[in-house]
Amino acid sequence: FNVPIAENEPVLSYAPGTPERDELKAQLKAFKETEVDIPMYIGGEEVRTGNKVSMHPPHDIKHCLGYYHQGDETHVYKAIDAALEAKPAWENLSWEHRASIFLKAAELVAGPYRQKLNAATMLGQSKNAFQAEIDAACEFADFLRFNVQYMTEIYADQPESAPGMWNRVEYRPLEGFIFALTPFNFTSIAGNLPSAPALMGNTVVWKPSKTAVYSAKVLMDIFKEAGVPDGVINLVYASGPVTAKVIFEHPDFAGIHFTGSTGVFQGMWKTIGENIQKYKTYPRIVGETGGKDYIFAHKSCDALAVATAIVRGGFEYQGQKCSAASRIYLPESRWEEIKGYVGAQLAEMKMGDPEDFSNFVNAVIDESSFNKLSGAIDAAKASDEAEVIFGGNYDKSKGYFIEPTIVLTTNPKYDTMEEELFGPVVTIYVYKDAEFEATMDVLDTTSMYALTGAIFSQDRYVAEMMTKRLTHTAGNFYINDKPTGAVVGQQPFGGSRGSGTNDKAGSAINLMRWVSPRTIKETF
Ligand code: ALA
Repeated sequence: FNVPIAENEPVLSYAPGTPERDELKAQLKAFKETEVDIPMYIGGEEVRTGNKVSMHPPHDIKHCLGYYHQGDETHVYKAIDAALEAKPAWENLSWEHRASIFLKAAELVAGPYRQKLNAATMLGQSKNAFQAEIDAACEFADFLRFNVQYMTEIYADQPESAPGMWNRVEYRPLEGFIFALTPFNFTSIAGNLPSAPALMGNTVVWKPSKTAVYSAKVLMDIFKEAGVPDGVINLVYASGPVTAKVIFEHPDFAGIHFTGSTGVFQGMWKTIGENIQKYKTYPRIVGETGGKDYIFAHKSCDALAVATAIVRGGFEYQGQKCSAASRIYLPESRWEEIKGYVGAQLAEMKMGDPEDFSNFVNAVIDESSFNKLSGAIDAAKASDEAEVIFGGNYDKSKGYFIEPTIVLTTNPKYDTMEEELFGPVVTIYVYKDAEFEATMDVLDTTSMYALTGAIFSQDRYVAEMMTKRLTHTAGNFYINDKPTGAVVGQQPFGGSRGSGTNDKAGSAINLMRWVSPRTIKETF
């Protein structure tokens, strides 16, 4: 299969004086000065219901970015009809044609749409310029390019034949439509969840997070300009329960590609189970869900590296990465040293509007997130088992700002060692050096999640022992590095236990879920 070898999109720096910085600033200004009016996209039609929902930057809640048009169940039905209508022509296109469309989309993401996608992510989802660049521009271009390569690896996997007989496997798309339900925290994931099944010949109904509609609209513009035919990806905004009812009761529902909370995923799985006899085929259920990602340091660790991992892994994008470090286990003998480095790094970390590029920390996504996080901070302040040792302030007068906060607890099973907060609140437990092995057992049984985890040890034998001992605690496991920042093509991403079906985003494993192979034996 002759396709371009996939390579990671280089990350631009946005340093003062660079052209990309000027372009991004100009794009941010343009988006702030124009109120956008975002329709649904169903079968190539732009659908405006007049039921307009206003959009506000989480860091500047009085500013209106524009509106999107909310739909109802009739729009979800229409989107399903459009997907089913577009399916025969799409699945019968050559794979080269589908690949070319998505490779073209990658070039649009990396080129003319780069600053639009970054600016929409910065304003709509309150992400700083660097975090937007590594997500919206680079990771999404990477998903598109690497998926084309993985698709050809799947198609190339063929059985043996013999004289007089030809065996072959046809990697058919699924029978029906795919539902993509996408999160706010990564524009790249929002783009990948509909585009990966579509690349494999499926058609899709896509519902984005209501807090990331602006960047979803830019993604739709990219798909259209790249040549994705009408009806192949349909974007609808209807309420969760209304959408779920229509989708999960439909006989042509063939699979869900989801990233979001564990509770929502488990609820959908149950509904799918209850409706199982309605479907033509067993639907594929693919989900990346919650996380309570850890850092566990051994006494042989490099203290500065551990501190950097806590600060970067815990507070990049306000701790709203599914991979964010949020429960930390540190040896008593190294704690003061690590704490010193953490304090020094936090003192340098500025919080504010992402339009000021010197701000590393921006606002959390919405009021309910703000309330949950400020509640956890208050609870730690009032607890006998915990104290707030860094940060602890919050303010929603201009936007949903939560100061990067570190809670120190004496109980390794304290609430915020267990519960996912999805924000910039990190909890640390300091263990006695002699309890190193016992603490590993506690780690293994403390949380229902197993998405990412990081261990730190300069002793290679200890690192090996920890890696074996903690086998099922993380789907992405880091040795001497922070637990965030998996790169497509380098670290396929996903977790198990309560964190998802571990169908590794950005891999052939994921793409295999969107095909139903037919084995053909022909004799001559
Ligand atoms: N790819 C993202 C990370 O690893 C989710 O942080």
